Amino acid sequence: MKVLVVGGGGREHAVIRKLRENKGITEIYALPGNGGIAADAKCEPIAATDISGITAFAVEKGIDYAVVTPDDPLVLGCVDALEEKGIPCFGPRANAAIIEGSKVFSKNLMKKYGIPTARYETFDDLDAALAYLETAPMPTVIKADGLALGKGVIIARNLAEARTAVIDMMQNARFGKSGERVVIEEFLEGPEVSVLAFTDGKTIKPMVSSMDHKRAGDNDTGLNTGGMGTVAPNPYYTEAVAARCMEEIFLPTIAAMNAEGRPFKGCLYFGLMITKDGPKVIEYNCRFGDPETQVVLPLLESDLFTIMRAVTEERLAETEVTFSDKNACCVILASKGYPESYQKGYQLLIPETVREQVFVAGAKLQDGQLLTSGGRVVGCTAVADTLPEAIHDAYEIAGQVHFENAYCRRDIGARALKAAQED
Ligand code: AMP
Ligand code: GLY
Repeated sequence: MKVLVVGGGGREHAVIRKLRENKGITEIYALPGNGGIAADAKCEPIAATDISGITAFAVEKGIDYAVVTPDDPLVLGCVDALEEKGIPCFGPRANAAIIEGSKVFSKNLMKKYGIPTARYETFDDLDAALAYLETAPMPTVIKADGLALGKGVIIARNLAEARTAVIDMMQNARFGKSGERVVIEEFLEGPEVSVLAFTDGKTIKPMVSSMDHKRAGDNDTGLNTGGMGTVAPNPYYTEAVAARCMEEIFLPTIAAMNAEGRPFKGCLYFGLMITKDGPKVIEYNCRFGDPETQVVLPLLESDLFTIMRAVTEERLAETEVTFSDKNACCVILASKGYPESYQKGYQLLIPETVREQVFVAGAKLQDGQLLTSGGRVVGCTAVADTLPEAIHDAYEIAGQVHFENAYCRRDIGARALKAAQED
């Protein structure tokens, strides 16, 4: 079987590594992939958003199955386009990917179907949004409606910050069209949990839970990033919380999407906050999380490709999805200065001894050498019996990977460790 993976980050590298375990797959192509992924798949320089380029390539190569992982091609209808050419896919169609593509859509969905989430108002008029802020409790949360590279959420501590955020989005078009509409919502408090789940639109099978570390600096300080590290499982996701999430959030979401005529098939990501009033949805993503995937998939014991095809063919109910009860930790090595400005083009050295535990996010191959090419450069994942060992080992691996100006948070897993010890 020839399999195509659309995307080119650390998450795609983790997906590709896992797919390689299936012996029925003879070839894996990555569009565009990256210099590190090139060791595990054939990379072609076709952008993940070039939908017609991707479909033309898939037809030309006789691709048997495609996995679409990034948000933008999913929202742009990459799965729809490939399916039109008769290529089965893993990933939602555009009409279901809107659950991530529009925050206004997802908030209205949750309100309509009684799925617990922060209270909110939506605005497409600047003056109305500013008037509302005058009486809104602070802090408050301002979200651009559309995709914004994970940066479209502003937590405003006071009225002045809130006004600036709304004006930036709606008037100054800081996030382009994505910010023409905004959601203003209640500020929630509590630990966050990421749960990725396989669903074929009928059955939902959650994967092991995880915890992201979104801020650039230690102790959750500094700017929001795409994610500086992850651990799995997440100690805040107890069995009792999991049972409530299934009952109050996961099953109702699948039912809601079906009722709207938008069946969701693929990986649905629930960004949850465990508040004192119970678990609430902070956000949905229509895809695997990055860098959650880099800790979740290494713990998957079942065959990923078998599960993916079962999702496509709506056979998930009878398909085994089991996870090991070990722990995983992923430490991201980023270019110093990320998520703002940073230098690229430094030589990246990954010793052979740790190669299989390093997922490459931002590197290109030039004359046989890996050079850094992004903000997040690699994710170093360790799996171990206990969380302290996994954290220790992940930092040990990170210590063996070299490039100039490498930066990592020193406290990945620290909060989870504390929570686990308090338990
Ligand atoms: P998102 O891009 O939607 O994942 O939001 C980024 C981060 O903003 C989340 O991971 C939360 O830490 C925070 N956040 C989003 N919505 C809220 C909210 N209603 N209350 C408190 N924090 C929030
Ligand atoms: N790690 C959060 C995300 O993938 O959006």
